[in-house]
Amino acid sequence: MIQWKSNHTGFTEKIVNGSNPISIVKSIGSNHAVGSQNAESYSLAFSQEDLILEERQAISSWIKSDVNCGDDLLVSRTLQCEGSKVNGFDLDPPKVLVVDDHAASRMTAVALLGMDGYEVIEADSGSIVVELVTQKQPDLILLDVMMPGMDGFEVCQLLKQDEQTRLIPVIFITALNDRRSRIRGIEVGADDFLTKPFDRVELAARVKSLVRQKRLNEDLDHTEQALFSIAMSIESRDPNTGNHCERLVKLGQVFGEYLSLSRYKIRDLMWGGYLHDIGKVGIPDAVLLKKGELTPEDWQLMQQHVLIGEKICQPLRSMRGVIPIIRHHHERWNGTGYPDGLKGDDIPYLAQVFQLIDIYDALTSERPYKRAYTSAEALLVMQEETDSGWRNPKLMQQFAEFIRCCQEKERSGE
Ligand SMILES: [Fe+2]
Repeated sequence: MIQWKSNHTGFTEKIVNGSNPISIVKSIGSNHAVGSQNAESYSLAFSQEDLILEERQAISSWIKSDVNCGDDLLVSRTLQCEGSKVNGFDLDPPKVLVVDDHAASRMTAVALLGMDGYEVIEADSGSIVVELVTQKQPDLILLDVMMPGMDGFEVCQLLKQDEQTRLIPVIFITALNDRRSRIRGIEVGADDFLTKPFDRVELAARVKSLVRQKRLNEDLDHTEQALFSIAMSIESRDPNTGNHCERLVKLGQVFGEYLSLSRYKIRDLMWGGYLHDIGKVGIPDAVLLKKGELTPEDWQLMQQHVLIGEKICQPLRSMRGVIPIIRHHHERWNGTGYPDGLKGDDIPYLAQVFQLIDIYDALTSERPYKRAYTSAEALLVMQEETDSGWRNPKLMQQFAEFIRCCQEKERSGE
């Protein structure tokens, strides 16, 4: 039995733009059967008796959307009861975009999700989805595979490649046993699959779980973004470094690829570019921006930045791979570095890799106290430091080869 009273969903409005008069098509109402003769195989897994719809209230509770993306765009929205709880999401009802060119299938999903209290947006073609997603920012998309024009795979691929929309879960609606579509769906980044006809319980469970996951990911994403913002603000506090972080991120990526590191290690290396000196947020300006030589006390304070940075990032699980870079990027191969005086391979590998790109960028960049060294000069300085025991000799050799390889490519215009 569906525990639902209709202060909610009433009917769907089809907005016909252009020279045509606006026509309104009621698709769901008290006596309008969902899954009528046009419903094909898309049946509701509940009886009409389960639906306690009060048409008068229902009609007034559906509103016409202001979205206007195409000549024949279908958009609907579900209003929530004041103070209602939506699937445990309190007063912030998640938005679900249902994209399907088959009206009956789409309306079935809309009805089911509406009853669970979701705000539902409908679209009947793939080509308007990207614009609609930008406007409405749904928490989840139910996407049909086969549609005229842009199909579901293309839509999903576009959304997953875009930084702004990649976190929105996409559930593909496929026919039962459509193995090829499922494989293709996985390739383009689908988060889950549902088969027609819908099973109400399965639909509710999958949507709820993915929406919850998406919100958790967003919180994490926001926290990460806050950390990156702090790191960037530290860089801007220190006018000596220029765009050091940005350059480290790029260098980290290409050197990581050159070393055939895993995708995750390359990501950690790139994040290290932004975050390695985040602990400088705890170093007073009087020391960080001091002109002239630092006193031994100043140095002691300055060295704390690696420990402060570690503390800032430690609570985040996603930072696990970056923390060794933050803590150990000033260690030396012969154990004379800080904070732990680690020797040789006791120094985490990514910290060793990061250290080389950090030093190389510092040497080849102009600073108020020095000119920018040429690449050959920088490599020479680094080799001298390696000979005196500060760096991993094998890694230094690989780095020198990598830089020469990059220069070769530059010269040949690749
Ligand atoms: Fe540092």
